Amino acid sequence: MNLFEKMENSSPTLPERYKNRSKEELETIIRRVKKTMGAQLFLPGHHYQKDEVIQFADVRGDSLKLAQLSASQHEAEAIVFCGVHFMAETADILTREDQHVYLPDMRAGCSMADMANLTQTEKAWKKLMGIFNNTILPLTYVNSTAAIKAFVGKHGGATVTSSNAAGMIEWALSQKERIMFLPDQHLGRNTAYDLGIPLEQMAVWDPIQEELLHEVPVEEVKVILWKGHCSVHENFTVPNVEQVRKDYPNMNIIVHPECSREVVALSDYAGSTNYIINQIENAPPGSAWAIGTEMNLVNRIIHEHPEQHIISLNPRMCPCLTMNRIDLPHLVWSLETLAEGKPQNLIKVDPEIAADAKKALERMLARA
Ligand code: 13P
Ligand code: SF4
Repeated sequence: MNLFEKMENSSPTLPERYKNRSKEELETIIRRVKKTMGAQLFLPGHHYQKDEVIQFADVRGDSLKLAQLSASQHEAEAIVFCGVHFMAETADILTREDQHVYLPDMRAGCSMADMANLTQTEKAWKKLMGIFNNTILPLTYVNSTAAIKAFVGKHGGATVTSSNAAGMIEWALSQKERIMFLPDQHLGRNTAYDLGIPLEQMAVWDPIQEELLHEVPVEEVKVILWKGHCSVHENFTVPNVEQVRKDYPNMNIIVHPECSREVVALSDYAGSTNYIINQIENAPPGSAWAIGTEMNLVNRIIHEHPEQHIISLNPRMCPCLTMNRIDLPHLVWSLETLAEGKPQNLIKVDPEIAADAKKALERMLARA
């Protein structure tokens, strides 16, 4: 049973009484609780959240911004995180003991984060140490469980986000000869390639087969990529890019670096959700964009920029299903029970794991 399934089976589910309320009723409750709790409550929202939820966020951001804001959030006693499980864990790790983090729906996980578990990582590390001796520094994308962040922190490594991966890989390679990058092979490969590391010098660790796939002799390997990916971004393909180039020859293509190397190579720009938003905000009116990222964000950008011609790079794209689990009824459930003093869905990372994970996060935040 993976973490996701465990959470599905063990966590309480939305009570019936929240299922049949009107949108207006739900929105009124949220406004009331926010007003009553004031600065005691902090509601961060990731850019991939639905409109019905993000409208109530105190701040919107990408993973890096939300991690930084959590670390500097000293006032709020309760943080209701509108995002996915690993983001709420990060907020818990970076806040004080007496601050509490809640996730409106415990089923809001991340399939990429579930692609690396601790047992697999420890096995991989043992084998890789046997091959490379003590020459590897581990880095993990923040899209990973607290246990993986703790593993990385314990071994001198750091977390990265899509906004700072280049700087973090440069830093890691100034510390050790090579890196192991978990769990997203695409972010690792795209970033290392941009830093001038040839693709042949990137090996892939397959956690299922427990083998290292490499093209050059092992001594020449600089980057070991964990074989994980985002099930949303893998749906942007080379044929999607070719179609846009054919239909709209003047269109700019901008994608998230969780897309494959092939898609990023054929695009005009690649960067985090914040980067994508900023590029389009700063583009001259009348310019045309095909965006390769999650659909809640793409639809919001389309709506907020009627002066631009914007489409999704994949016309059949869906939102991230786990991000979408946070909806109005779940948010109301979370806020109302919190206001009643019977909060649900507390995110509490084991203190020992949190201490090591914090080392990895702080190494990143010190350089961000
Ligand atoms: P960023 O917020 O770093 O752009 O990452 C996107 C993502 O996939 C979050 O789950
Ligand atoms: Fe995870 Fe991808 Fe969804 Fe982000 S978009 S939460 S990486 S599955």
